[in-house]
Amino acid sequence: MTRKLLFAAFFSVAATGLHADVIAPDDVAANEYGEVEVSLTGVSGDPARGEEVMTNRGLGNCIACHQVTALDDYPFHGEVGPTLDGAADRWTEAALRGMLVNADNIFPDSAMPSFYRVSGFVRPGNGYTGRAAEGPLEPILSAQQVEDVVAYLLTLTE
Ligand code: HEC
Repeated sequence: MTRKLLFAAFFSVAATGLHADVIAPDDVAANEYGEVEVSLTGVSGDPARGEEVMTNRGLGNCIACHQVTALDDYPFHGEVGPTLDGAADRWTEAALRGMLVNADNIFPDSAMPSFYRVSGFVRPGNGYTGRAAEGPLEPILSAQQVEDVVAYLLTLTE
């Protein structure tokens, strides 16, 4: 094999390795308790990236609704939802993944957004125009961002 071919072969293996295991939003399976036990990506979450997602308004924006003492450096914590201090003592990894993917899994009729869901709800636009948005919706967070947030939440022990 030439060097170029070897390189190409390496790349295609690396690329499939990255994507093969990502579970699409409509394919995520929750158990009867609403828990999602299997990682969405098979790649361990990164708590530092999870912190970024939690505090970034364009991403999870979790602190708009939740107080988190460990994130006190970031301004404007909301109180729509409960504090997340000690969340890792109250919830399993599978339950946290389940509620992030689809809040209805754990909290029916919650004000909490579903971060990895693209169907089964009233589409944005419906309430105002009577017409649903066209085409597939993107989830609010990527599969890996959900895993990163789960990893961050698991650091919140008391
Ligand atoms: C629009 C407000 C809102 C946003 C944004 C939001 N949540 Fe929530 N969250 C809630 C509410 C309300 C509850 C309480 C559950 C219910 O509906 O009974 C909740 C519950 C939770 C719980 C369980 C808390 C406990 O210990 O009882 C966790 C964990 C959680 N949210 C994590 C997150 C994370 C992580 C994000 C960002 C990715 C997020 N939430 C974004 C409103 C929000």
